[in-house]
Amino acid sequence: MDLQLSGRVAVVTGASKGIGLAVTRTLLGEGVRVVAASRKSTPELGALTGDLVHVPADLTDPEAPGHIVERAVSEFGGLDILVNNAGGPPPGVALPRFSFLAPNDEDWRVMFEFNLFSVVRAVRAAITPMLARGGGSIVNISSGSARLPAPMNVDYNAAKAGLNNLTKALSEEFAPQGIRVNTISPGPVRTAWWTESGGAADIIAAQAGTDRDSVMDQVAPEMMKLSTGRLVDPQEVADVVALLASPRSASTTGADFAVDGGFLKQV
Ligand SMILES: NC(=O)c1ccc[n+]([C@@H]2O[C@H](COP(=O)([O-])OP(=O)(O)OC[C@H]3O[C@@H](n4cnc5c(N)ncnc54)[C@H](OP(=O)(O)O)[C@@H]3O)[C@@H](O)[C@H]2O)c1
Repeated sequence: MDLQLSGRVAVVTGASKGIGLAVTRTLLGEGVRVVAASRKSTPELGALTGDLVHVPADLTDPEAPGHIVERAVSEFGGLDILVNNAGGPPPGVALPRFSFLAPNDEDWRVMFEFNLFSVVRAVRAAITPMLARGGGSIVNISSGSARLPAPMNVDYNAAKAGLNNLTKALSEEFAPQGIRVNTISPGPVRTAWWTESGGAADIIAAQAGTDRDSVMDQVAPEMMKLSTGRLVDPQEVADVVALLASPRSASTTGADFAVDGGFLKQV
């Protein structure tokens, strides 16, 4: 299937690792010109070929989203696709946390800055250049836990629930002008959030009295009742991003796509 993405311009946040890296690689493979934002680049990002510009930016800085979008316009002449992927544990934070009593006011503030307010600011910056092109596609990477309230990561879940609500509101307002806005809700994805030292797998391993690999291969899929029995691969999320970014999805807006191995059980 030709996704008709060749020559379009995208901004991808959190592009140096994990889902964002897979999205960047996939869009470049479709001929998209990509502005990739993260605080630092990685060898994996640097090795990608195509029309790619890395913008070093800390999305907890309120000025950063605007600068990233400006760079897309100055470098590539406009903006068609915005992938708000950066999110998860804010810098210096390790998740999961297991109780509402764990995060304090400052933790809540930083969680919302990173997972919700940075998206608000990026969308605000992107609307004008997208309208100038006659429309565009915004894909927000949310989480299955936005729709499954639980004591674990309560601040993160609430920020992602806000992101789902925002997405639907934006889809209503801007569909008549050609901008589509959708969320993807991954289940647990095998990225640095899980795999790195001190990451989610290590935290759960300490609780469960086991090791990191056992958590990722067995404990987490069982704990989260994943129908597929395994964590999600970042590429499986990236492929859905590409479809939603494409004009082949022209009638898809305000939708939420679960890429979660069967994590969410409700209809
Ligand atoms: N992994 C999961 O299990 C899972 C599940 C559900 C939803 N999600 C969602 O999927 C998205 C991506 O998660 P991931 O697991 O792929 O993340 P990841 O592998 O940990 O990568 C995070 C990316 O964000 C960048 N980043 C971190 N802090 C930043 C900041 N302050 N400013 C700019 N960029 C920053 C990182 O680069 P730098 O560190 O260089 O800045 C990196 O490129 C998030 O929205 C997350 O909530 C993930």
